[in-house]
Amino acid sequence: MKFNQTKLAVKKIKENKRKLLGAYVIGVILFCFSCKELKANNEIGLASAKELDTFNLESLIADCETQLEISVPKLTDLSKHPRLIETGKKEWKEVPNNRLVWTSGFYPGVLWYMYDISQNEKWKLEAIKRTEVFDSFKTITEHHDIGFMMFPAFGKGYELGGKKEYKDILLTSAGSLASRFNPQVGTIRSWSNKMHPRWKQHITIIDNMLNLELLFWAAKHGGDTKFYDIAVKHAETTMKNHFREDYTSWHVLEYDSITGAVLNRHTKQGYADNSRWSRGQAWGVYGYTMVYKETRDKKFLEFAQKITDKYLSLLPDDYVPCWDFDVANNPKEEKDASAAAVVASALLDLSEFVDNKKDQERYYDAALKMLESLGSDKYSGVGKTDSFLLHSTGAKSLGHEINVALIYADYYYIEALDRLKKIREKGKL
Ligand code: GLY
Repeated sequence: MKFNQTKLAVKKIKENKRKLLGAYVIGVILFCFSCKELKANNEIGLASAKELDTFNLESLIADCETQLEISVPKLTDLSKHPRLIETGKKEWKEVPNNRLVWTSGFYPGVLWYMYDISQNEKWKLEAIKRTEVFDSFKTITEHHDIGFMMFPAFGKGYELGGKKEYKDILLTSAGSLASRFNPQVGTIRSWSNKMHPRWKQHITIIDNMLNLELLFWAAKHGGDTKFYDIAVKHAETTMKNHFREDYTSWHVLEYDSITGAVLNRHTKQGYADNSRWSRGQAWGVYGYTMVYKETRDKKFLEFAQKITDKYLSLLPDDYVPCWDFDVANNPKEEKDASAAAVVASALLDLSEFVDNKKDQERYYDAALKMLESLGSDKYSGVGKTDSFLLHSTGAKSLGHEINVALIYADYYYIEALDRLKKIREKGKL
């Protein structure tokens, strides 16, 4: 009996040992998994820590507000808007809010974003005054820029300022833009031939991708459903014809208006017909990211990633390109901070749309680097000019707006800061 009891006790001890060993092995496995998890989290943690160390979003936003405190009281003629600050000058050069001037909406747009960020009513009042002054532009059918003009002003007023009464203006504007769609070609005609006599037929430029946002918005807000179809068709046709095999974009395509055949591929603002104009690439990155946001069609996300990855691979150390990538090896060439601001804003959206962590972090990190560079002494206008940013190039090939401050650089910069603020508030990354 005693012997049996001893045998039983030994068996129990062995069993307990086996259980302990099992628990130990499971423990070790769980520990390893949690280490891996920790490592993954730590990679995000490290990115965040680095971000906190070197990137002060609040101070960049405060800089923008300081600049607006200086510029707004000077810009009292509401029939004009600030367009550029020439090299060596401090103050904005204003141009009339003309039906042909594509930049009319950006200054009100800047003010809508500052209102959204600060919730300070004074920026809203300034934005309203400078938006409503050109509501008659809703009937522009002479060119495609109506999207660039109306959406930053009336669209942001609706979205960020709660100005629901802007809806009809936006719907009419979308109708005006849609009237330029040619179903034979499958794109919206950007320019009239009177404006650009070099090209005889149907012209579409890569910049036009940005105008699609107005059509998507209108389709979602009670407008004709054909607005959505036109925007998608334009994006598909542009994806097919406007990009080289390496996912870089031509600037200007001339299509046969009847057959839809591509007749010519050219540039207007780039270095050469076959070169890679930096802001053109930026419009592509922003455009396809936005088209994915509106359609959730994966083919647009994949395309946005392809052109983004190509753009990133071409960047210099400070993440701000020269005005054309094919003159980028010449250190004397002027930068285009506007391209960097457009892409930084797009990348913050893209970082939220991609599924895998690695891509999320890659795009987020690149956006931060761009904003960090733009907000640095090298590119910031603080203490030097009335703009947020310096060193943009509008059209060097045409001999104007070379190494200046540009209002659309400021617009996409403050949009990016607002997007980043919202991402941080959501607690993602
Ligand atoms: N959309 C005109 C430009 O990018 O200069």
